[in-house]
Amino acid sequence: MTDTLTLVRPDDWHLHLRDGERLAAVVGHSARQFARAIVMPNLTPPVTTVAAAQRYRERILDALPGDNDFGPLMTLYLTDETSAQEIDRAAASDHVYACKLYPAGATTNSDAGVTDIRRCDDALARMAEHGMPLLVHGEVTDDVVDIFEREAQFIDRVLAPLCERVPALRVVFEHVTTKAAVQFVESLPGRLAATITPQHLLLTRNDLLAGGLRPHHYCLPVLKTFEDRDALITAATSGSAQFFLGTDSAPHARHEKESDCGCAGTYSAHAAIELYAEAFDRAGALDKLEGFASLHGPGFYRLPVNRDTITLTRQNWTVPASFPFAGNELVPLGAGTDLAWKMV
Ligand code: DOR
Ligand code: ZN
Repeated sequence: MTDTLTLVRPDDWHLHLRDGERLAAVVGHSARQFARAIVMPNLTPPVTTVAAAQRYRERILDALPGDNDFGPLMTLYLTDETSAQEIDRAAASDHVYACKLYPAGATTNSDAGVTDIRRCDDALARMAEHGMPLLVHGEVTDDVVDIFEREAQFIDRVLAPLCERVPALRVVFEHVTTKAAVQFVESLPGRLAATITPQHLLLTRNDLLAGGLRPHHYCLPVLKTFEDRDALITAATSGSAQFFLGTDSAPHARHEKESDCGCAGTYSAHAAIELYAEAFDRAGALDKLEGFASLHGPGFYRLPVNRDTITLTRQNWTVPASFPFAGNELVPLGAGTDLAWKMV
């Protein structure tokens, strides 16, 4: 049995860091493990310009604890109004790596998102020219579509037609949650990749709804079936370079989750690599963790692989029940439970 695991230092290809005091409360957790992270732009107001992304990056660097060389990789929030010129500025900038598509109304702070993908045709064509990845929150927002079907419907209604219309566009299907999404990604090698979260590898919708409602397991896209979870595990542990680590760690204060209308988002940055190790260990695939966590992401983003390493040891430890969060509490994924791997 392996008891020590040394990996090239991983990156998080999908992270919510928030802003202000909340940013300061969480950024150290990510910086402890990851060299870089793709930072989501769904602030209020959203980060829609290169200038705003550069200012946000400065605030992230200022919030880092101590001597840390964590690298925030910035993204722009696409809107109906994003111009081809803004895409040119992004491609020319040193710090913007991608644009994020939130269908309007799909999730937290997506009200300013895209109402009809055809309104982004100019921006998307320009992204394709620059080789800049489009990061997709893949859910339709149609009220009459069942919440468990929203990802599969998005493939048919939006993503497949988009990939056909703009064949040169490189796309990351973010936080895939279904077997259908895995199959779609695999059908377009080279131009399509996907991130997978720890919660979607470890949990199913039973962990949200069976035996009591667990609001800290509520995220979007919502947890799915055993069959879907198993398809994600198979993809993540397959060694395919199309699948890589993206936590979607999304902090919300306890009272915003434990509420009549709780916010979507699961916080995993406190123990992200340990949670992934747990999932890969359960699948008997610890040897595939380094590719998923540290190699496939830089490959898709055409960035260098990190030069240093991290080490995990097999050692039981208990996840804290909560963390301080700007005068509130933040309840992390796995709160109060034991994990088998610990980063040293
Ligand atoms: O659960 C989620 N939380 N899904 C998202 O897409 C957004 C995120 C957030 O920002 O809280
Ligand atoms: Zn997200």
